[in-house]
Amino acid sequence: MRVLVTGGAGFIGSNLVHALITGRHEVGVIDDLSVGRAENLHPAAWFRRIDILDPGLSDLVAEFAPEAVVHLAAQADVQASIADPARDHAVNVDGTRAVAAAAAAAGVERVVSASSAAVYGEPAEVPLSETSSKRPMNPYGVSKLEAEAALAGALAGTGTDFASFRFANVYGPRQDGHGEGGVVAIFATKLAAGDRPVIYGTGRQTRDFIYVGDVVAAIIYALFADDPLAGPGPDGPAYNISTGRESSVEEIAGVLRMESMVLKEFERLPAREGDVERSALDPAKALEMFGWTANQGLESGLAMTWAYFRQSA
Ligand SMILES: NC(=O)c1ccc[n+]([C@@H]2O[C@H](COP(=O)([O-])OP(=O)(O)OC[C@H]3O[C@@H](n4cnc5c(N)ncnc54)[C@H](O)[C@@H]3O)[C@@H](O)[C@H]2O)c1
Repeated sequence: MRVLVTGGAGFIGSNLVHALITGRHEVGVIDDLSVGRAENLHPAAWFRRIDILDPGLSDLVAEFAPEAVVHLAAQADVQASIADPARDHAVNVDGTRAVAAAAAAAGVERVVSASSAAVYGEPAEVPLSETSSKRPMNPYGVSKLEAEAALAGALAGTGTDFASFRFANVYGPRQDGHGEGGVVAIFATKLAAGDRPVIYGTGRQTRDFIYVGDVVAAIIYALFADDPLAGPGPDGPAYNISTGRESSVEEIAGVLRMESMVLKEFERLPAREGDVERSALDPAKALEMFGWTANQGLESGLAMTWAYFRQSA
């Protein structure tokens, strides 16, 4: 299959591109390298450096002529969305609309677009289902929800099938641990540098941590699904991509301490405002619709992640 990946130089995108090329697919990457790194690019991938908001986007999509598009390019930093909500909205909402329109114009068969657990905000229940109430708590969560609507607005009624994947907390190799990235990458970066990571609050707060290899598998399963993915209604095209299990920050810290053999205590600081206490997303719909389920255990996923961070320190 010919697959175009936006954001293919980023964390999830580069893992996906490597897996697709290993599977002998033809892969194109569009990325402005604002966050993603040139060294993440696979040499066998067609690559164009461009902002998805650039008017030249549709010509490039038409030039590559993909059968499927995986749209991962985004402003994915919650703190940056608070500092500059207008840019967050432009990249995430207008950018998704632009990618979707370019895909439809190029006759793409299916678009899978990245959404986020952030659309739910403080969970009304645990685990959350796709139809649970949406109360995003920051501009990033709002823009991801609006991006889902923009995707549907651009593609419903065209010949292009589509889905929005609400990723839980993804972790694994190539995640950036320097900024506001995921807790696993931040802990691993600190441990690899010989520094003490910080736990905010009790450490008993939970998240649904999913290994990036499982996320990559979900996308590939979806690309090859026989039936259309875009069901009716606002949540029809939405899928939780998650494990359904809650793991605490304390548990993550414990496994990484054992893996790294850095057994000194983590630093403790008060809880940060706006942090959700518990979260997990029910992935049953993805299993039912395209046969995917996460199969990486937390300990083995963290062991592979630690091995990567230790090597690249
Ligand atoms: N990592 C997670 O835990 C997580 C959780 C939920 C949702 N997501 C979503 O998954 C997707 C991928 O996330 P990630 O963690 O790999 O993020 P990432 O920041 O590593 O990757 C995003 C990529 O998009 C590129 N990009 C950003 N703005 C662009 C623009 N205007 N034009 C072209 N390229 C642009 C960046 O350079 C980067 O390579 C994002 O849509 C993100 O919102 C990630």
